[in-house]
Amino acid sequence: MTVPPPIVAPSILAADFARLADEVRAVEHAADWLHVDVMDNHFVPNLTIGLPVVQSLRAVTDLPFDVHLMITDPRRWAPGYADAGAYNVTFHAEACDNPVALARDLRSAGAKAGLAIDRDTPIEPYLDILPSFDTLLIMTIKAGFGGQRFLPQLLDKVRTARRHVAAGHLELRIEVDGGIAADTIAQAAEAGADAFVAGTAVYGADDPAEAIGRLRSLAERAAAGV
Ligand code: DX5
Ligand code: ZN
Repeated sequence: MTVPPPIVAPSILAADFARLADEVRAVEHAADWLHVDVMDNHFVPNLTIGLPVVQSLRAVTDLPFDVHLMITDPRRWAPGYADAGAYNVTFHAEACDNPVALARDLRSAGAKAGLAIDRDTPIEPYLDILPSFDTLLIMTIKAGFGGQRFLPQLLDKVRTARRHVAAGHLELRIEVDGGIAADTIAQAAEAGADAFVAGTAVYGADDPAEAIGRLRSLAERAAAGV
């Protein structure tokens, strides 16, 4: 199985929101993407940050933004994040009745398009539309809160997606999100994930940049079968 070098995307959900610019700079030279969790208190019970924060952060770093929208009505809001300079905008399959059309809108707005699959959603109904997407985010927890325990049974969806991508020669990042840490990242990489979101494991560490480097090497070794 050939997969591209892993992407490590620290989630600022676990950062100190009073010092966001500093927290972003702390990972700037270690991370590949910056994962931004947008929650609206409707699609998920939690409430986090939105477009103004993304716009402000865009000015303080060159890191690509990986925006994860856990919101209802993404058709209305998602293109605004692309316009704000997000590299990738991911919305939830469960929140959108025409994911292909929204992916097209996001790509037209200059962003990559991502489809997120929550804990209780099967992957099979979405395999046929994956050519419309650049990233597939498979939750390894129930979306809504950081710091939850990793659910290894959800890696079956990663395996299914990886087989499908390989057979279809698709260019698609398979991203996992939730409970990714030093003791779980290798199994996710072995299952076929090649992008890894980590909140608590990065911002809960004494040295966030070092934590990213450690996660990266664990993912690389697992993907290489070492
Ligand atoms: C939760 C978010 C995650 C969260 C992960 O719904 O999508 O990105 O930040 O946090 P950890 O890594 O702590 O599980
Ligand atoms: Zn997320």
